Amino acid sequence: MAEENDRPEYRFGTRAIRAASFPAPVHQVPTATPIYQTATFSAEDSAELGDILADRRPGYAYSRVDNPTAAAMARAIADLEGAEAGFALGSGMAAVHAAVASLVGSGDRIVSTRAVYGSTRALFSQVLRRFGVQTDYVDPTDLEAVEASLASGATLLYLETISNPTIVVGDLPRLIELAHRHGAQVVVDNTFASPYLCRPMEHGADLVVESATKWLGGHSDVVAGVVVGSRERIDKVREMETDMGAIVAPFSAFLVLRGIETLHVRMDRHCQTALVLARYLETADGVRSVFYPGLPSHPQASVAQRLLRAGGGMVAFDLGDRRAASVFLDTLRIPPRTASLGAVQTIAVHPPSTTHRQLDDGELAASGIPLGLVRISVGLEDPEDLIADVTAGLAAARAAVHA
Ligand SMILES: Cc1ncc(COP(=O)(O)O)c(C=O)c1O
Repeated sequence: MAEENDRPEYRFGTRAIRAASFPAPVHQVPTATPIYQTATFSAEDSAELGDILADRRPGYAYSRVDNPTAAAMARAIADLEGAEAGFALGSGMAAVHAAVASLVGSGDRIVSTRAVYGSTRALFSQVLRRFGVQTDYVDPTDLEAVEASLASGATLLYLETISNPTIVVGDLPRLIELAHRHGAQVVVDNTFASPYLCRPMEHGADLVVESATKWLGGHSDVVAGVVVGSRERIDKVREMETDMGAIVAPFSAFLVLRGIETLHVRMDRHCQTALVLARYLETADGVRSVFYPGLPSHPQASVAQRLLRAGGGMVAFDLGDRRAASVFLDTLRIPPRTASLGAVQTIAVHPPSTTHRQLDDGELAASGIPLGLVRISVGLEDPEDLIADVTAGLAAARAAVHA
């Protein structure tokens, strides 16, 4: 890299291009990770460039391969997840794809939990299928069914710590032990829990993926994802991504790093308010069932108590049918009309028509997703205001159903 314009004969254009990339005069370590907004890095000589690109020595050459801000994000999340290494990607789905594609190939079979994020299901059933990978879906709370499915041959068991959208909490240690006993590796999507509530690596997961768009980023202002695991497995992910090109952008990585600093504080409050809301919903008219891991009524309450620090920020409940759900959602004043989760603002969705729109009614039923399901990502607004908003929504839904 040019250190100075050391030749007086340089003309203006040459001087300007060189001058703009003189190294910043910094002698201290910045407390916030800088946004390394650069596509390329300059090596000392062509031998060094070749060595870096061939992974014979550490360093950066091209930001599709690796970038310091992306690496800082990956390192931070690997640390929080208790993993040796990580790789940061441009979205949660890029992370899911990278993790799974680094482990399976044509002729392999995936066993996945039946309630799984809609795009993950589409990736398995539509995209990977075209490449000769078969996926079967199981209820993770039925260990016999999981074992039977694994016993018929599987390369990979795919789990979500807290399932999207039904908030099922599988017994990770037992599921992972079963998979390993049958020779399958395990990928866990930890998006709904975040490493603050659960660290699947501690229960034996081989790779953990996460959409950093959600709780890690926390502010609905970035789309990003991450895969963490052993150095060996992450090296495979990195190697593959060099050619796939789905690395996170530097500015996105910066936003995720900024989000991570407050993850614990935000999650505590998300969990507290979610518990208040879930308790309220249990007593509310028109609500058929409530799914929240912090409630004693949750079908896997004891598993959740063992695995999760707290119940999390996601609450789901069944209003009986699509119409009640849509009237409820359209009456709410606080949540924006959007379909994400894990943000400072509360987000309420009807999974069958948004996040799980890829599934027909038969597939929804087979996945245990009721047609009247509403999923709320509880934000940091004041709980009293949220309860008032939800109360108005439920009243409108009841009125619509009885009209
Ligand atoms: C559980 C889960 N995993 C992965 C993703 C994909 O994340 P992204 O939207 O960042 O690609 C989502 C998105 O909602 C999700 O809910």
